[in-house]
Amino acid sequence: MGKTQKKIFNSLLERVREIVKGPSGRDEKLRAICQLLIENVPHYDWVGFYLVDKAKKELVLGPFVGEPTEHVRIPFGKGICGQAAERRTTFVVQDVSKEGNYLACSPKVKSEIVIPLFKGGEIIGELDIDSHTLSPFTEEDRVFLEDVCKIVSELF
Ligand code: SME
Repeated sequence: MGKTQKKIFNSLLERVREIVKGPSGRDEKLRAICQLLIENVPHYDWVGFYLVDKAKKELVLGPFVGEPTEHVRIPFGKGICGQAAERRTTFVVQDVSKEGNYLACSPKVKSEIVIPLFKGGEIIGELDIDSHTLSPFTEEDRVFLEDVCKIVSELF
């Protein structure tokens, strides 16, 4: 990754911290973070949060920016989001056409990254990003987005 990209990610992290500290409610903050990411990273085309419904072992769609999705509830284990929740780890799929356990939202989507949100060692949600580009996600995206999630977990 070039220096410029690193600088952009660092300045975005700073802005995420400012949003988290701000006066608005949690959902508004989560939506503002989605908006910030989608506006500033060209290969992010849908950005949203899913929150864990612990009793049902399901993910529930929270604030997002991008086209509406039919996947408002996703059982643990299903799709890329459900697999990330079950395994409690970041899931990167560089080509969704090669992923058997995938829930399609739009035919435009070519790749996806899902990062779990943890609080006190427990998974409480996820940050989900779809891209219209094939193989766009680097190690730097993963590190950056895991840092975003660490900051976001302060909201819970
Ligand atoms: N593609 C996801 C479903 C959620 S949408 O991307 C918004 C999956 O396979 O879990």
